[in-house]
Amino acid sequence: MSGTGLFLCFFLIIHLLGNLQLFLPPEQAREQFNWYSHLLSGNIIIKTVSYVLYISIIGHTIYALIITRKNAAANGTKYAYDKRGTASVWYSRNMGLLGTIIFIFLIIHFKDFWYQYKFTDLPLDAKGHKDLYTIVTKAYQQLWYVLVYEVALLALGFHLLHGFFSAARTLGVFHPKYVRWVKTLGWVYTLVIILGFMAMPIFVYLNGLS
Ligand code: HEM
Repeated sequence: MSGTGLFLCFFLIIHLLGNLQLFLPPEQAREQFNWYSHLLSGNIIIKTVSYVLYISIIGHTIYALIITRKNAAANGTKYAYDKRGTASVWYSRNMGLLGTIIFIFLIIHFKDFWYQYKFTDLPLDAKGHKDLYTIVTKAYQQLWYVLVYEVALLALGFHLLHGFFSAARTLGVFHPKYVRWVKTLGWVYTLVIILGFMAMPIFVYLNGLS
């Protein structure tokens, strides 16, 4: 879980940086965003990394399901007094729920952007690249769609917080000597990633881009 999780964390940094191009002035954003997507889809190294990414997502999900089932079996009996809330935060005890929200989000995300880009004939922009920018900006013209993203990203935020600290424990760096650094890094990473992604649909919606 920690290996695939940390790789997915790394992917999120790259994905966020690439998508920051959406904040450029509209015409420049369209040209650069479409060029960038074209560059990624044609590069053999990036393609190989993409396959590692897909395997990581599938591996992380399957292993999460196994762990959740094991935990449910181990906690089968209901206690009259359940004080687990004093020992751990709620999101640590609800990783299955948060993971499910993220999984549903990813299905929507892949269907609307990834599938459209890879497997359909999109109109081309002035430079002859598939106009993915219009697909993305059109999607965020709908308020309900923006809200789905915002909720899913909040779930991802709590998932990342727990995941980060959990991975640090697995890797043995959640040591009293480093705990403050690990906590600060976890919070900074999560806030930057989540606020960055959350700003994108809102920015497109409020500016009426398409
Ligand atoms: C809200 C801001 C986001 C925007 C605007 C966005 C945009 C996109 C676009 C346009 C694509 C298709 C392009 C391509 O496949 O090269 C894509 C792919 C993808 N996105 Fe996002 N994304 C966002 C957030 C996220 C988040 C939060 C996650 C993870 C939880 C995520 C995971 C992925 C994955 C795994 C792919 C497939 C990448 C690949 O094929 O290499 N995205 N995204």
